[in-house]
Amino acid sequence: MVKLTASEKEQYLNELIEFLKIPSISADSAYADQVNQAAQWVADALTKAGAEEIKIVPTAGYPIVYGEKMIDPNLPTILVYGHYDVQPPDPLDLWDSPAFEPVIKTTPIHPEGAIFARGACDDKGQMYMHIKAFEWMMQNDELTCNVKFMIEGEEEVGSDNLEAFVREHKEQLKCDVILISDTGMISNSQPSITTGLRGLSYMEVKVTGPNRDLHSGLYGGAVANPINILTQMIAQLQDDQNKITIPGFYDKVVTVNEEERMEMAKAPFDLKEYIASIDLADIHGEEGYTTSERQSIRPTLDVNGIWGGYTGEGAKTVIPSAAHAKISMRLVPNQDWEEIGQLFEHHFRAIAPKSVKVEVITHHGGEPYVTPIDNIGYQAAHKAYASTFGVEPFPQRDGGSIPIVPLFEKILGVKSVLMGFGLDSDAIHSPNEHFGLFNFYKGIETIPLFYSNFTALSK
Ligand code: BES
Ligand code: MN
Ligand code: MN
Repeated sequence: MVKLTASEKEQYLNELIEFLKIPSISADSAYADQVNQAAQWVADALTKAGAEEIKIVPTAGYPIVYGEKMIDPNLPTILVYGHYDVQPPDPLDLWDSPAFEPVIKTTPIHPEGAIFARGACDDKGQMYMHIKAFEWMMQNDELTCNVKFMIEGEEEVGSDNLEAFVREHKEQLKCDVILISDTGMISNSQPSITTGLRGLSYMEVKVTGPNRDLHSGLYGGAVANPINILTQMIAQLQDDQNKITIPGFYDKVVTVNEEERMEMAKAPFDLKEYIASIDLADIHGEEGYTTSERQSIRPTLDVNGIWGGYTGEGAKTVIPSAAHAKISMRLVPNQDWEEIGQLFEHHFRAIAPKSVKVEVITHHGGEPYVTPIDNIGYQAAHKAYASTFGVEPFPQRDGGSIPIVPLFEKILGVKSVLMGFGLDSDAIHSPNEHFGLFNFYKGIETIPLFYSNFTALSK
């Protein structure tokens, strides 16, 4: 069993702090140099840890970092996937400390301290656990099987170039299981293993009315206001039970049976605490489902951003020429993200009045993923968490998306084990993102057990 020493903990943490200082924001081309710098940093860390065949493979976007340690062709091979890119830190003024100047602070949930920085949990901190666990196994002569690392820099913008890389390197990526820490668990006293991810269809719409902005007194009441129309159209996408009204949207949704729902309901979830943690007066969602179900086994539709017209200081009386919105749909098995995108587009055009023009763009997407628990990958993870936490982990479906996971299964024919160590309260994608030091160290201690359990179960 791995027990990190105080000096190992200090060293690993200091290295992570340096890594988190690199603003590797893949969505913003102004940070291209820094994203590439993060790739180099990962390659150097893998080299230092003892990996071989290190490559920084260029793509049409950001590079994929590869490294491996093959100790015996007769032993199983684990492929570790993670990402070194991060979300933009905006809105900057809501951060208590700068997003790329990591600081350690305690919180009620993280009394041992947490590291605050963009990417601390998603995914630099969690990915770095794997490099350090590998380094620890190398140094202590405890590496029990072969390992390959594939770390990308475009996860937060849809992994556009990863699919082609995986298809073109099938032989090089050959493995028995894929291991990923880019999800969450229930709490620090109740670990869980992610058995599902939702899919995603990300759309953008533009509604255009008059050919120019108009005086709202001269023209008001007589022409279509694109913002009024757009908001009416969006409002129609959900009914009064919060069901999505797009025809065909639910047709392929696999309904989870009562038995499985009861099994899922056994995972601890405190609704009061949930409501309090985000300062809400009440919850909201699709009728007939619990909060946990709404955020895991049910599809959703959300407006991510909406703009148009005058939003500056003071008042300006205007009918804007156009209005825009970004709309995402989270999907569950067996919805197909491209088909859902088409259903959305067709419906959105159909509900538009003749007085406006509608444009619909599909951004990116990915398929949902569910994995059974009767395989040795899951069992190896289960045993690993049970020994480091002293508590049996629950299987749990997560609400987020990692589009490459279903593609791994399709292209490589290999299952992914989602060993996440983050918490929902870690504020990923939000201001003040953080990652508990307890979680960081526990991750590094749990990963080597996955390796040894998986090797033993493969025999
Ligand atoms: N690591 C997250 C996904 C995640 C987080 C899954 C927590 C489960 C629990 C990943 O980096 C992410 O943010 N994915 C995006 C999708 C992507 C196509 C931009 C997402 O879920 O919005
Ligand atoms: Mn991530
Ligand atoms: Mn993310």
